[in-house]
Amino acid sequence: MRDYAQLQEILAPIISDENVQDMKNYIQHGSITTFEHCFSVAKLAYRMGNAVPFEVDMTILLQGAMLHDFYLYDWHELGDGSHRMHGFRHAKRAANNAVTLLGMNEDVHSVIYSHMWPLNPLRVPRSREAFIVCLADKCIALHETLFKR
Ligand SMILES: [Fe+2]
Ligand SMILES: [Fe+2]
Repeated sequence: MRDYAQLQEILAPIISDENVQDMKNYIQHGSITTFEHCFSVAKLAYRMGNAVPFEVDMTILLQGAMLHDFYLYDWHELGDGSHRMHGFRHAKRAANNAVTLLGMNEDVHSVIYSHMWPLNPLRVPRSREAFIVCLADKCIALHETLFKR
């Protein structure tokens, strides 16, 4: 079995937060909640971070991965109108939530903010951690869409 001790240590304080727990109330794809989706992305990003031949900051990587979709609403519903164009806008909302609700730093904000690249072509990932999260998210989203309906 893989060693997920470091992952658990870094993510424990985030996962225990009630706003993060709230992601269990929103559906991401099919029957997958946003919380499950984010946790899957964190696990894959962690494995990728351990596999690449360059140094990665695991704290930034895992915080960014777990909070990359921390936008806290059901994107299938229109809400107050702010959910329109979800694909283009949710990354900014999630990044701001991570800073205001959990006190995440600028590096983590950047990871979350750029995770929808290249859909948002101008928000190119600016760090190794951001690039890994961006890639892990696409792999997991594809897998969830194809196999977990
Ligand atoms: Fe996203
Ligand atoms: Fe995602």
